[in-house]
Amino acid sequence: MSNPEVIHGDCLDVLPTLTQNAAELIYLDPPFFTQKTHKLGTRDGVKNFSFEDIWGDYGQYMTYMSDRLEKCRNVLSDTGSIFVHCDRNSSHLLRLVCDKVFGSENFKSEIIWHYKRWSNSANALLPAHQNILYYTKTKDFTFNKKFVGYSESTNVDQILQKRSRDDRNKSVYSRDDAGNVLVAAEKKGVPLSDVWEIPYLNPKAKERVGYPTQKPILLLERIIELSTNEGDLVIDPFCGSGTTLVAAKLLNRKCLGIDTNEDAVELTANRLLSPAKTQSALLEKGRASYSTADTRISQVLAGIKYTAVQRNSGIDAILLDKWNESFVFVRLQKQNESIKLGIEKLQKAADKRGGGYMIFVASEPLDAEVEACKDLLVVEAQSQKILHWLATRADVYERAG
Ligand SMILES: C[S@@+](CC[C@H](N)C(=O)[O-])C[C@H]1O[C@@H](n2cnc3c(N)ncnc32)[C@H](O)[C@@H]1O
Repeated sequence: MSNPEVIHGDCLDVLPTLTQNAAELIYLDPPFFTQKTHKLGTRDGVKNFSFEDIWGDYGQYMTYMSDRLEKCRNVLSDTGSIFVHCDRNSSHLLRLVCDKVFGSENFKSEIIWHYKRWSNSANALLPAHQNILYYTKTKDFTFNKKFVGYSESTNVDQILQKRSRDDRNKSVYSRDDAGNVLVAAEKKGVPLSDVWEIPYLNPKAKERVGYPTQKPILLLERIIELSTNEGDLVIDPFCGSGTTLVAAKLLNRKCLGIDTNEDAVELTANRLLSPAKTQSALLEKGRASYSTADTRISQVLAGIKYTAVQRNSGIDAILLDKWNESFVFVRLQKQNESIKLGIEKLQKAADKRGGGYMIFVASEPLDAEVEACKDLLVVEAQSQKILHWLATRADVYERAG
C-alpha cells in the first residue's frame, strides 16, 4: 500500500529531494550505537520486524549520523527545531555531532525521558531514562510554552501571592500601600522542565504494534506541541513504526516519514489509516492518585509486609509472605464501585494468577448479602468501624438517659 507521507529509502538520499527550509520540526530516533540487531514481532506472531545497529567503531557511527543530520538541517525552516533521540550509548557522541552541525549556540536542552522499569539489572544501576537533544536552527524559533502543576512541596504563598523585584532585584511578595500582601493573577503552574516522566509502552498497550524500540505517542505529542503549530510540517527521517507521524496526525500537523526498512514503511502506512493511542492512567490521574492508593493500603496493612500493585484493576497489594503456599491478594473498594463488583474484580484477577487467598477491604458498611468464602476475607475499613462506633454512641446515651 503506498502512502505519499511515508517514503522508503535512506534519509541521506531522500531528504535532499524534499522542499528545503520547510519543516518546522524534525524528530529522529536513529540507531543508538547499541551494537545489537533489534528484533520484535506482532502479538499474533504473524510479522517480525528488525533493524541493525552494529558499527565498526564510534567514528563510523558519528560520520554516518553527521552526514544525515546535515541533510536534516537543510530541510528545517528558519524557525524550526530538531529533537535527536538517543540514550547513554550515544548521547555523548551525538552531542558533539549536533554541536558541529547545528552550532553549540543553538543547543536548547538535553531532555531526560524518565520511565519506571521492573526488569533486573546485573551489577549495575537499572537504566530508566533516555536522552533527547534539542536544537533549533536559529535564535528565532517556534516555542509554545507549557506549564505543569506545582509540586506537592510548593508553599501555598508561592502559588497565591503576587511577586515583584525589590531594589536589589530580589524576588519579594508584592504589598499594597497599607502593607497587605497582594494576590497574584491566575497562575498557570511552573514551566515544563527538561525531565519528562512519561510511561514506557507496556507489553499489552493497545498502541503497541510490535516494532522494536517503538516510542510512546504521548512523548511525541509533547515534542510536537512544544515546537510546532497546527498545519506545520513534521518530519521523521528514521520513522520506524511511524509513531511521530501518528502523533502529528492526531494534532493536525502535516507529516512525512522515511525509513530504509520496507516493513517499517508498510507498517507506518497502515498505522496512519487508524491512529490509536494508549491513554496513560499515570499522566491522566497524576502520580498523586497512586500515592493516595498507597496511603490507603499502608493504613489497611500496617504491620504486615506487602508489595503495592500499581497497574492492576483487580489487585492493590500482594502480601510478601505466602500462606499455605498461596499468594494473598488484597483489594480496596473503589469510589462508585459496589462491594459485589469489587470482590468480583479481585476474584477474577486472583484466578488469572492461579488463585490464592483474597482480602477485600470495604469502605462502606458490610451488608448481609456479602458472601465470604474460605479463601476470601471481607473486612470493613477502619473508618467504617469509627463511623459505626460513633453511630452506636447515640444508643448508649439514650439508654443511659
Ligand atoms: C529506533 S527505530 C525508530 C523507531 C520509531 N521511533 C518508532 O517509534 O517506531 C530506527 C529506525 O531507523 C531506520 N533507519 C536506520 N537507518 C536509516 C536511514 N539511513 N534512513 C532511514 N531510516 C533508517 C531503521 O530501519 C529503524 O526503523
